[in-house]
Amino acid sequence: MNTTWRHKDLLGIQELTAEEITFLLDTAAAFKQVGERSIKKVPSLRGKTLVNLFIEPSTRTRTSFELAAKRLSADVININTTASSLVKGETLKDTALNLQALNADIIVIRHSAAGAPHFLARFLKASIINAGDGAHEHPTQALLDAFTIREHKGRIDGLNVTILGDILYSRVARSNIWLLTKLGARVTLAGPSTLVPRVFEQFGCRVVHDIETAIGDADVINLLRIQHERQRKTMFPSIGEYTAMFGLNKDRFARTKPDALIMHPGPINRGVEIDSEIADCDRSVILEQVTNGLAVRMAVLFVCSGGQL
Ligand code: CP
Repeated sequence: MNTTWRHKDLLGIQELTAEEITFLLDTAAAFKQVGERSIKKVPSLRGKTLVNLFIEPSTRTRTSFELAAKRLSADVININTTASSLVKGETLKDTALNLQALNADIIVIRHSAAGAPHFLARFLKASIINAGDGAHEHPTQALLDAFTIREHKGRIDGLNVTILGDILYSRVARSNIWLLTKLGARVTLAGPSTLVPRVFEQFGCRVVHDIETAIGDADVINLLRIQHERQRKTMFPSIGEYTAMFGLNKDRFARTKPDALIMHPGPINRGVEIDSEIADCDRSVILEQVTNGLAVRMAVLFVCSGGQL
């Protein structure tokens, strides 16, 4: 292991230092350059096996981890949970122990239960990478978001970053809050009071419930989808009302700073939290975020496997 990074796992952003986060972003920058060469593959993880264990749906994260591992020359196994023995009642622990018995070196896990990756990390020798655990953390999403902001703005420190939408149920919001505040950004959380409770102020964020205040001074606006799959009750009267009150439409976009970045972790719900034209406009970096996710995940897999550049 190198002197800055001493972890075999990436479980969350909360437990990382600002130095460790910056180290991951710098390592990702080096891997982004590798991805721009004609031969994009490096032998760093040759002989290692990565298992993608996604027990919740994913398009971006699962594909990105698979491609990142292949670019590093690892062998990749994707577990299709609906076709796995989890549906026959096997526990997560037994599934993981069986993957270890097959000599998996890295397990990338997405699970609806907060803490599932931490649980596996307690007894497995393999590196455990959190690809999203319930409403708790999505560390690689926050890293790729920060990487994208840093590419465009040259820094994180001192920026005004607004995260707008369903904060309460969002692991993306929590990981972004930890990361951005550790690196010195001013974070504003905005949305309906039912989804953006004042308790988030204790994490060093400004909480506002009107969109005009939230977007007016923002250097970055990160929009979040409503997480219907995690909400156990109706948090606002209707989708139409949410869009009217908090959707980023053309009128509101016209009142943002002329260089404010528009971000979204995906999947986007066009016409709900963001107008379709704004999602596709030249200030939107939504697809760049996806591209940068590959370099970030290469960096995470590399350093958690003990790699040094
Ligand atoms: N942003 C994100 O986690 O997307 P997926 O659910 O498609 O992986």
